[in-house]
Amino acid sequence: MRFVPMNSVRKGAVIAKPLIDSNGSLLLKEGVILSDPIIQKIQDKGYKSIYVKDDYSQGDIEDVIKPEIRRKVTNKIKDTFEFFAKNQGRETQNSAQIYKNLDELYDMSKAIVDDLFNQKDIMISMVDIKSMDNYTYSHSVNVAVLSLVIGIAAQLTKNELYEITMGAMLHDIGKIFVPKEILNKPGKLTDEEFKIIQQHTVKGYEYISQNSSIKATTKIIALQHHLNMDGSGYPSGNKLSQIHKFSRIVSIADIYDALTSDRSYRKAFAPSEAIEYIMSLASSKLDIDYVKVFVKKIIPYPVGTIVMLSNGETAVVKKLNEGFPMRPVVELIINGKLTDEKIDLMEMNNQVIKEIVYEISG
Ligand SMILES: [Fe+2]
Repeated sequence: MRFVPMNSVRKGAVIAKPLIDSNGSLLLKEGVILSDPIIQKIQDKGYKSIYVKDDYSQGDIEDVIKPEIRRKVTNKIKDTFEFFAKNQGRETQNSAQIYKNLDELYDMSKAIVDDLFNQKDIMISMVDIKSMDNYTYSHSVNVAVLSLVIGIAAQLTKNELYEITMGAMLHDIGKIFVPKEILNKPGKLTDEEFKIIQQHTVKGYEYISQNSSIKATTKIIALQHHLNMDGSGYPSGNKLSQIHKFSRIVSIADIYDALTSDRSYRKAFAPSEAIEYIMSLASSKLDIDYVKVFVKKIIPYPVGTIVMLSNGETAVVKKLNEGFPMRPVVELIINGKLTDEKIDLMEMNNQVIKEIVYEISG
């Protein structure tokens, strides 16, 4: 399995991960062989990259949480956002229905934490595919899972993990106040539009602050997740010492997932590029200690990724070397064909992975 931008997907490739739309319905199931019309249809639906299996990459990439759980949580987050959106400014936000919804979401957070807590060696090698219309909900689940994995590695307590997972799921609740046209705008935002987007932190915070069943840490994460360690970011006027540790973790997860997602105005960054970018922010904007933890937990080149080596040769990642995710075992591809010739990059001092390749010329 490998993650390929749509413009590099060729007919004959096989869908490796089901494509789900924002209503939770299945658009295409795993195993469908792609034809030109199907590729066109996927592009028309707004997907910019998908997971495929082809001759080069047959293996699976294990997701951290099971797809059924991911789907259930995504739908519950969607319900919660929609409920709040419908009841803006009304007393009903403290109704029995929303309590029930929030309780269910908290129970799901707990179940995910309990499931992952004992898997200390868990690594993140993939995130969910998001289309334009389910971006916010699917992104919320990814940010929760990423925050949880960082939190486990940073040795947060179980109660803290329950809270950070729940808070991460609702971190962008203020997006209900941003018009869809601005959220999904394909081009560059005007200053005015950018200001409206920035308000999602304060507005989300103020809005859920009226709800007595939402934990204080969830409210803080909603307010602070775009604040930077150097005082930049928004909302402005916060002092660094006041950025809660949960907010620091969630902001790393948020940036990583946003970068590795297709957006209306660009296609996704490869994991390796997103990691580089996050490392470049570590000394100024992000909490360097949590960035260090995060980098150990992310696999930049999952098995199945096709890469170019520093000597110009093409190869596919076959096996990871534990603790050295940048230096996996690869198999050379020559003239578009797999060669069976394996190279362990751990043993090669003079060769490194230069970049990810999506199209192979035979
Ligand atoms: Fe946000």
